[in-house]
Amino acid sequence: MNTRDITAAPPLQTGHQPARKIGVVMLDLQNISLSFGGIKALADVSFNVREHEIRAIIGPNGAGKSSMINVINGIYHPQKGKIIFRDQLRRGMSPSKVARQGIARTFQNIALFKGMTVLDNIMTGRNTKMHSSFLANAIWWGRARNEEMRHRHKVEELIDFLEIQHIRKTPVGRLPYGLQKRVELARALASEPELLLLDEPMAGMNVEEKQDMCRFILDVNQQFGTTIVLIEHDMGVVMDISDRVVVLDYGKKIGDGTPAAVMANQEVIKAYLGSSH
Ligand SMILES: Nc1ncnc2c1ncn2[C@@H]1O[C@H](COP(=O)(O)OP(=O)(O)OP(=O)(O)O)[C@@H](O)[C@H]1O
Ligand SMILES: [Mg+2]
Repeated sequence: MNTRDITAAPPLQTGHQPARKIGVVMLDLQNISLSFGGIKALADVSFNVREHEIRAIIGPNGAGKSSMINVINGIYHPQKGKIIFRDQLRRGMSPSKVARQGIARTFQNIALFKGMTVLDNIMTGRNTKMHSSFLANAIWWGRARNEEMRHRHKVEELIDFLEIQHIRKTPVGRLPYGLQKRVELARALASEPELLLLDEPMAGMNVEEKQDMCRFILDVNQQFGTTIVLIEHDMGVVMDISDRVVVLDYGKKIGDGTPAAVMANQEVIKAYLGSSH
């Protein structure tokens, strides 16, 4: 049972002005159903994501939020439903192909190479952008070198942007949790995605760390124009930075709209107070 009171969430005061130029529908999910054996993780869920918006997915534990991101990302393939990205119907696509389409993500449980430095971890995010093969490296050293320098430059830009210069040579495993989350964001951004999926980027953070992360997410959205799908449990954050919210409960969609409309929805309030089950 989930006992979070969504009506009590204070705003985080990031000064977000959601009046940005939200564009056309970029991603359209139609009637998505996903089961694991007898467990229905997602049941007939439809919603869309518009260009440049911050779209939150909320819901109690086990509601199907991560499953939905795994569907968008190509890790899970739904048994039913359609995924339309940039007006193209997707047909069974691997996560690496999805990444090459311009969709990047972070994970609920940090998935970084703990023994590698911050810099090297972020470089792995450039994989989808790397063209020179091993053979090309051997034959045409100059081209590969130029490419390497371009990747380094982009990564250094991100390190400045996310204010992690001081830890660029530190092995990730030695960093506090909040900074690891920021490095994971940097790695996702390294692929220059047009759609960024964030699975609980602020989980386990204190208020100050959350405010920093909110600011970075807003900066990414505003300065790079990146569209963001954000799973978040903190309703203050959701109210403060998202343009539209979709609410899942036991795999079903029970709400969809502006943060204010969704928070006033009786079914949503009941799901969060645990009194509807
Ligand atoms: N790979 C899997 N195999 C079996 N069951 C799974 C798998 N992935 C998810 N599920 C089940 O699907 C349901 C939805 O899980 P999901 O992780 O999507 O929820 P969530 O909303 O992200 O929850 P939380 O807030 O706890 O992260 C749960 O019942 C979960 O146990
Ligand atoms: Mg989850």
